Amino acid sequence: MTALNTSARIAVIGAGAMGAGIAQVAAQAGHPVLLLDNRPGAAAQAIEGIDRQLGKRVENGKLSAESRSATVARLQAVEAIEALADCDLIIEAIVENLEVKRALFRQLEGICGEHCILASNTSSLSITSIAAQLDHPQRLLGLHFFNPAPVMALVEIVSGLASDPALAECLYDTAKAWGKKPVHTRSTPGFIVNRVARPFYAESLRMLQEGAADCPTLDALMREAGGFAMGAFELTDLIGHDVNYAVTCSVFDAYYQDTRFLPSLIQKELVDGGRLGRKSGQGFYSYAQGAERPQAGEISSSASVETCIAEGDLGIAQGLLARLSEQGVEVIRRDGRGLLRVGDAVLALSDGRMACQRAREDGLRNLILLDLAFDYRNAKRIAISHAAGIDPLALEQGVALLQRAGLMVSLLSDSPALAVLRTVAMLANEAADALLQDVASATDIDLAMRAGVNYPQGPLAWADAIGLSHIWKTCTPVMAKNATGRRCCCAAASPKGEHSMTNHEAMTLASECAQSLFQRDTASQAMGMRLLSAGPGCARVGMTVRADMIQGHGTCHGGYLFALADSAFAFACNSYNEATVAIGCSIDYIAPARLGDTLNADCIEQSRSGRTGNYDVRIENQQGQLIALFHGKSYKVRGPVLTQENPNE
Ligand code: NAI
Repeated sequence: MTALNTSARIAVIGAGAMGAGIAQVAAQAGHPVLLLDNRPGAAAQAIEGIDRQLGKRVENGKLSAESRSATVARLQAVEAIEALADCDLIIEAIVENLEVKRALFRQLEGICGEHCILASNTSSLSITSIAAQLDHPQRLLGLHFFNPAPVMALVEIVSGLASDPALAECLYDTAKAWGKKPVHTRSTPGFIVNRVARPFYAESLRMLQEGAADCPTLDALMREAGGFAMGAFELTDLIGHDVNYAVTCSVFDAYYQDTRFLPSLIQKELVDGGRLGRKSGQGFYSYAQGAERPQAGEISSSASVETCIAEGDLGIAQGLLARLSEQGVEVIRRDGRGLLRVGDAVLALSDGRMACQRAREDGLRNLILLDLAFDYRNAKRIAISHAAGIDPLALEQGVALLQRAGLMVSLLSDSPALAVLRTVAMLANEAADALLQDVASATDIDLAMRAGVNYPQGPLAWADAIGLSHIWKTCTPVMAKNATGRRCCCAAASPKGEHSMTNHEAMTLASECAQSLFQRDTASQAMGMRLLSAGPGCARVGMTVRADMIQGHGTCHGGYLFALADSAFAFACNSYNEATVAIGCSIDYIAPARLGDTLNADCIEQSRSGRTGNYDVRIENQQGQLIALFHGKSYKVRGPVLTQENPNE
């Protein structure tokens, strides 16, 4: 089926922001358009508004006066639904309420001819659900425009369970004929854009919460390194926090509270406080008259750098070398594993691991991690991070090298995948999940993200360019960091073929094992540890830093932190009721814990096969600040944890 021809009569119901915009698009494309709203006079007012908008375009020389008057002449306000009887396509853009939309479409079925296509502009409701009670559910589809409809190119053509594929093609061709960029998608929560874009907001909000950097720095990195039009904080200020938060909550609920969509408490607080963004004058930033935007964080160095050594292929960061050469820095090439050396510093593109972990595992002293840039050749800014204890001189040299390449340098605290790489990896992960679930084709997913939210590149193509194994590697520590205890339990309890137990049984057993061990662990009890939760392969233990735990420097003795992490490790690796012992542990102390701090140690199983297992523990304080990272290796010994002598009371 081809596009509807321009003689086809279109109706738009709902003359608000979206309905008026859609009506304008259809009329500009040459269709006669009827506009209906249940608020008397609203449709006529909307047409006057369209006329005014077009008038401005005529004044700016962007539209001819003839086009303006021809478009407006094709628009007709109607006050009764019966006037839509002979329409060929009716697009609904009324209030976002399932029952109200269902009732409207049932009413329309009794009024319009059988050939008439029914479409909803809903951004969050299920098309399958809206159509469920219709006599002819096959003729209802989603036609999801973006705001403002006359400007935004993307239109998602949404098919529900019953939608007729031929009608989906017809709407696709019609949207194309209207000058839009349509994509096909199945009716799943958030469709393409509102689902795949969630990590863009979520990761920045998480980084803010974790204290990785402040809003202006993260926003600047997204723009000046990531190539995005706006950072997440300025964008959500523009969208409105009430709207953005509501979409996140709806996607979160629709995916049965999958914690990867977990709404942010920081954003909720803004909504609760009426700080909705630009429209209320205050969001993350102030929009009061004369208010100045805070500056992005930047570090600088006065060290002088004339030479550097490029060891091996820097992959996507290769453009950096060209910049350095252009600036007169001598780049000496050697074989190696993709490192850039300057003085005592070693620079490497992040692979997701924190600097402290990578420095330890790869044996790299004075390691400085580089964030992803969309285009290393032209980026203005780059983020770096380093492990605690870096030689200040080496840091100076590393920063000086990046400055010589013409980059502004923003220092982030040591966290997985820095800022742009973390965001892009999680966007790619979400896009890949949507692809896997057959929500849309890879081409359509990427097109949707470019045309709907102006990403510099589709997340799937971007992941291909970076390398899928690099993205895969990056996602692992980011997801471990993002996971809550609850999700870890679910993930660890998911069927691996080795358990015939249900999740619930596995959870109960893990909890009983942990309680049994804890009751016999007088040392942990004496330190005031609290067993907070345990699941298969995971556990959380809490402890408050007491006065008798403070060492000579006035902070918590590292041994107590080790003991806390070790306890969480013990509960996690014994959680299958198979007795295990530790055969190796290591710890990185990231930040000091102080008197009165309430610490949580979260242990997550990383791998388990045969008799050995690997476990990572994060200790955080009450502000979510990372205090220590612990790694433990376990070995299965004979017998169960719960025995006749050691039952769990
Ligand atoms: P709006 O509140 O600006 O306009 C809704 C209009 O529908 C109002 O004029 C209202 O009087 C009218 N209306 C309500 N119930 C009606 C009924 N039973 N019959 C006739 N008219 C009725 O809302 P907006 O923003 O235009 O959104 C409309 C739809 O478009 C919603 O489903 C929304 O989820 C969706 N959408 C909104 C986007 C946005 O950015 N605002 C983006 C994409 C989709």
